Amino acid sequence: RIRRTTVPQIAARKGGEPIVSLTSYHAHTAAIVDRHADFILVGDSLGMVMHGMETTVGVPLELMIMHGRAVVRGTKKALIVVDMPFGTYEESPNMAFRNAAKVMKETGCGAVKLEGGARMAETIRFLTERGIPVMAHTGLTPQSSHVMGGFKTQGRNEETWASHIDDARAVAEAGAFAVVLEGMVEPLAAKITKDIAIPTIGIGASVECDGQILVLEDMLGLNPWTPKFVKVYGQLGPMIEQAVEAYAADVRTRAFPTEDEVYR
Ligand code: KIV
Ligand code: NA
Repeated sequence: RIRRTTVPQIAARKGGEPIVSLTSYHAHTAAIVDRHADFILVGDSLGMVMHGMETTVGVPLELMIMHGRAVVRGTKKALIVVDMPFGTYEESPNMAFRNAAKVMKETGCGAVKLEGGARMAETIRFLTERGIPVMAHTGLTPQSSHVMGGFKTQGRNEETWASHIDDARAVAEAGAFAVVLEGMVEPLAAKITKDIAIPTIGIGASVECDGQILVLEDMLGLNPWTPKFVKVYGQLGPMIEQAVEAYAADVRTRAFPTEDEVYR
């Protein structure tokens, strides 16, 4: 059995070979991603992608655990990181530990991710010192979209850069092993990457980041809306449409099933 990529192995990639990552919520797709990615994120974006929610705010812990388990079962090589959903970690380090430990015990994942910079530093330290590796997430943090007034690119005003840099430094100093930089102007993401000692994982950020992540369904062309930061590597939407259309026509004309698909 192949040993999975470890948290220290990801941390050691700072300034080295770029870290490859995608999200997955599903055993069969995770098995494919597992052959190519260093870590797989079971992101709370699953609320929007899999369950049609408008934001990630409504995602329950149990749903993260269900999909986390599916991805751990479907993979053997990548580090699996599971998102802590809104409302399960912000209140106190104790609450965060209780819920993060539940996620790790019930899914078998290797680390958790949570959103927030300096304000989450105490919690990140608390978890890390007690055996829970934490990936941080700063910049555009979708769980705070109601405070931010939507999904807004961060750092357009250079006066805000200092606080974004402080956030990234704070999570690194608190013991996070990597940090996702989401939705920020490119030079800010490049600067943070140079300024901090842990790997940065970019999404809508910079090619200078130590790694990149995308939502799998976005890069496969399954999202009817493609944000600017996504590169579409496959057109699965149209492919699925064609297949479903062909099947429907075959059923209507009794062209399916044929002799090959029935038991005699
Ligand atoms: O939930 C998610 O998919 C994420 C990534 C976009 C970083 O947090
Ligand atoms: Na997320």
